[in-house]
Amino acid sequence: MRRLILSLVCLLFAATAPAHAKPGPFDGVWLFDDADPRPGVTMVEIATKGGVTAGTVTTQWYGPMPIARMTVEGDTATFTMRNLNDREHPTREWRAKLEDGKLRLLGQIWFSEIDELGRRGTKADAAQRAFRVTTLPPLGTLAPDGMARTPPMGWSSWNKFAEHIDDKTVRAMADALVSSGLRDAGYTYVNIDDGWQGTRGPDGRIRPNAKFPDMKALTDYVHAKGLKIGIYSSQGPRTCAGYEGSYGHVRQDAQTYADWGFDYLKYDLCSGEWFYDTADTVQRSYYEMGEALRATGRPILFSLCEYGRFDVGSWGRKVGGHLWRTTGDITDEWKVMTDIGFERNGNPAHAGPGGWNDPDMLEIGNGGMTHDEYVTHMTLWAISAAPLVMGHDLRETSPEALALLTNRAVIAIDQDARGIQGTRVRKDGDAEVWAKPLADGSVAVALFNRGTAAKRMLLAPADAGATRIGEAHDLWANKRVADPAADVTVPAHGAVLLRVRAG
Ligand code: GAL
Repeated sequence: MRRLILSLVCLLFAATAPAHAKPGPFDGVWLFDDADPRPGVTMVEIATKGGVTAGTVTTQWYGPMPIARMTVEGDTATFTMRNLNDREHPTREWRAKLEDGKLRLLGQIWFSEIDELGRRGTKADAAQRAFRVTTLPPLGTLAPDGMARTPPMGWSSWNKFAEHIDDKTVRAMADALVSSGLRDAGYTYVNIDDGWQGTRGPDGRIRPNAKFPDMKALTDYVHAKGLKIGIYSSQGPRTCAGYEGSYGHVRQDAQTYADWGFDYLKYDLCSGEWFYDTADTVQRSYYEMGEALRATGRPILFSLCEYGRFDVGSWGRKVGGHLWRTTGDITDEWKVMTDIGFERNGNPAHAGPGGWNDPDMLEIGNGGMTHDEYVTHMTLWAISAAPLVMGHDLRETSPEALALLTNRAVIAIDQDARGIQGTRVRKDGDAEVWAKPLADGSVAVALFNRGTAAKRMLLAPADAGATRIGEAHDLWANKRVADPAADVTVPAHGAVLLRVRAG
């Protein structure tokens, strides 16, 4: 009898089990060979268990991304994927369609459209293509290293050349820094941004692409000019422009940069935002590289680029950062430059010797703004103690741009040893007054006119924290202000920068 009951139960189970165990039409491994540039789909794995179909989409940029809420209707499956960096669409609906034994994947992630055809693969293929997820070290604190006592100054390839940067152009920029006098004005870093990376060797070591035949020879060349040189990477698998990132190779890359002779690293979150999307993981991912750079024993300036997320200024130094971006990218436009410079230039309490808020690179020399607008740009960056990293073709610097970039008295405001980030002290519509106390007891006062018509503005003693103005020097006009109590005409979209002493 017991046997009979057991057999009946088994029979019943066998009758219901196949419906659950039966693989769905989408089940299996699907291989994508022509990974689209972003996010670079390499594989889709789908399995039906207990009547529920789920799986992952593996990408070069973000690793394995889980598929959620999959429903199957005929030869089409619809499912939800997490979307990055888009508050309005935190998730997106994707579709998979069976087409002649292949799988067409249709979807969207951030601003990339995905339309890819995959072929069936085996479990062995899946194992071979599996993304290696790495874990982060616990967060530690790096002691100050004495670098970046004043905001870093130099040049970076991104604003002008984007990915179209090569060894020859970097050398030409180093030459131009010297011949133009910019180096002697303080611009010492020549930074290669995104686009130098090639593939990894069999030992995992990153190699430059064909545009950079010999990194050591390049750093030697730049060093011989009395300059320093910077490089760029991401803690993600891919950089923002889609090049090889440092994910899984952080220590090794830090050592490679040191071996090549680099003095500066810009480390850009990019595809790492999929893995590191909390204050804790973002900090640890920067700490991981900060610590790896220290471990090389070479002094390497560390520039954090995560667009101001998670109050970066409050922990940037702890992870070894010397400057940290406060926003997304600047462009060569008045609206964008002023929006960043006036409104999103970071918390001044976090800036000072050793660590600086970075409202992004300069656009002076790129031609998208008027001369007065560039005066505002330089004045605003200087009074904000912002890093001064140029981003134009240095071979084509106009005399006007050169005068703006090399004005020693203005640079001295930016580079003042006290390292205070200036702040807005007064605002009246389009007129703004900003002040920055300086090491010698004087105060830099900037009068900004954000309006479209020239404006008469008055310097008030209180702007400089004084009861009476002793003397004022106009740094752009390079002259003593005869009567500091008289009003000053500030051109439309322009600025006046004064160095003021109480009297
Ligand atoms: C952006 C970064 C830019 C530039 C670019 C390179 O994320 O903000 O400054 O580095 O990536 O792809």
